[in-house]
Amino acid sequence: MCGIIGIASNKPVSINIINSLKKLEYRGYDSAGLATLNNSQINEKKCSGRVDELEKILFKNPSEGNIGIGHVRWATHGVPNIINAHPHSSEKVSVVHNGIIENSDELKKDLEIKGFKFKSQTDTEVITLLVTQFLEKSEPLEAVFKTLRKLKGSFALGIIFKNFSDIIVGARRGSPLAVGYSNEENYLGSDSYALKSMTNKISYLDDGELCMLTKSDIAFYDVNLKKINKKIYTVSDDENISDKGDYKNFMSKEIFEQASTIKKCLNEYTDSIKKDINIYNFPIEPKQINKIILIGCGTAYHSCLVAKYWLEELTTIDVEIDIASEFRYRNIKFNPKNLYIFVSQSGETADTAAALDICKKNKVKTCSIVNVVESTIARSSDWVLPIHAGPEIGVASTKAFLGQLIVLYILSLKLSKVRGDIDKNKYDEYLRNLHKLPESIKNTFKLENEIQLMAKEFLDANGSMFLGRGSSFPIALEGALKLKELSYLHAEGYPAGEMKHGPLALIEEGLPVIVIAPKDKYYEKTLSNTQEVIARGGKIFFITDNKKRLLSTNIRYRLRVPRIDNLLSPLLLTIPLQLLAYHVALLKDCDIDKPRNLAKSVTVE
Ligand code: M6R
Repeated sequence: MCGIIGIASNKPVSINIINSLKKLEYRGYDSAGLATLNNSQINEKKCSGRVDELEKILFKNPSEGNIGIGHVRWATHGVPNIINAHPHSSEKVSVVHNGIIENSDELKKDLEIKGFKFKSQTDTEVITLLVTQFLEKSEPLEAVFKTLRKLKGSFALGIIFKNFSDIIVGARRGSPLAVGYSNEENYLGSDSYALKSMTNKISYLDDGELCMLTKSDIAFYDVNLKKINKKIYTVSDDENISDKGDYKNFMSKEIFEQASTIKKCLNEYTDSIKKDINIYNFPIEPKQINKIILIGCGTAYHSCLVAKYWLEELTTIDVEIDIASEFRYRNIKFNPKNLYIFVSQSGETADTAAALDICKKNKVKTCSIVNVVESTIARSSDWVLPIHAGPEIGVASTKAFLGQLIVLYILSLKLSKVRGDIDKNKYDEYLRNLHKLPESIKNTFKLENEIQLMAKEFLDANGSMFLGRGSSFPIALEGALKLKELSYLHAEGYPAGEMKHGPLALIEEGLPVIVIAPKDKYYEKTLSNTQEVIARGGKIFFITDNKKRLLSTNIRYRLRVPRIDNLLSPLLLTIPLQLLAYHVALLKDCDIDKPRNLAKSVTVE
């Protein structure tokens, strides 16, 4: 999940490398580094920690050179420190790498026998030393090609060469790599986002491909090192990409943007004149769909879980959900009448991309619901439904989750219409209700003051539980995930009805238990489960849209979100949980946008 940048230019590149690395920090932020070539010398600078540190080092001791590579790391092999930070250089080459070399131990032993010495604990250094070895008898591109044949695992690479002062070689297998074009310089990057401030003309390497770039030329090669042409995309120009405005951090900006991102998404997908949903060109004739399988990771998986309830409620289609890292290794019985839907904010998540690849190999129809339309997952699927949330920078997913939900809901509704599972009046009513959402989201933000007070109650807690039934169960999972990733407090999400089958044993005096209980068909049942928790000393934080107050002294807080159509309530109920996680993390002085040990785009398995 590391971030890679490479620039070949006719002017010094280190400042632009630093600027691009700042954009790539969402991919990893435990160490950073860069290497430039100047007067046939590799000039390497590295730090542990953030890109700001690297910038300070460069400020004191600038790096000259018109060609260079940079890296932000999310540690896989070896602790995050200066030695393990990338680039990894020898006397001949310097390498940045994203991914994992699975046979690095074996390769390391061979190289050590040949007399090569390793400085770091990383898997990447075998690449540096293999290329160095092959350079004895080969030109740079061929030396990299020979190296690739030795490697097992996934990687994206950027490599510069001491004795070839004008080229960068890039290669990809598994991990994404983009190439950018400009008049007087060319670029290599983990994604188009890192290159956007410099160019909007991008090509993407496919698995097994290599590229060689100079300031004025880019050449692409296939798996057999045969020269190929690549399509050039013009990438979208997102507004307010990296501007926090008056917000303390990106996460708070992204939470409070949700009313407008949902409105934008509704505008994209609904036609107010025809009073219909603009979704056409289904890859399978909707009436012929046998089953829908929804696949994702983390928060995206939670949106799949919510969609299962919607599709089951609104359509007659059978639905399954799966976690991508499980799906990819199971013995799945593929069926061409099934539609396989992949949900991913980044569109680059390695497990989700691999699961999609398996579907493609089995020749079944795929759809992706993504925020980044130029992403690997979007480019590989038969059908793409963008969520139009705009760039999400905070590692904890917020507006992308609501965006995924709204697209999944719209899709469920449209499917139910075109299959004839719903009558016209009901369809029109559901559509009208959808348009009430942005206003209801805005009104939900008014709960923030209460949530700030509530957050204080979590400071001395040793753990917490989130409970819900029906579509509030995945919202409980999402609330627990947000709290643990942002505030590092243990949090369990559970279906409220499962408590008595084990987790009730965890309830002790004062344990914070967040109950998500909209006034739906599960409401009374959830109340009974709440009583069971109260009877054992749990401190209840009750989140509902029901006007009627509950009488119990153990209900520490009661938050009431606006009442909306029951099917849509998961969207509103999510917001207090996002704000709760945010405020607990703020009180604990955690790094909100970059929680420890995590990265925004998970491009390793
Ligand atoms: O980019 P994706 O939606 O595929 O990412 C999936 C997960 O890694 C992501 O949702 C993760 O769980 C978030 N950090 C949760 O806030």
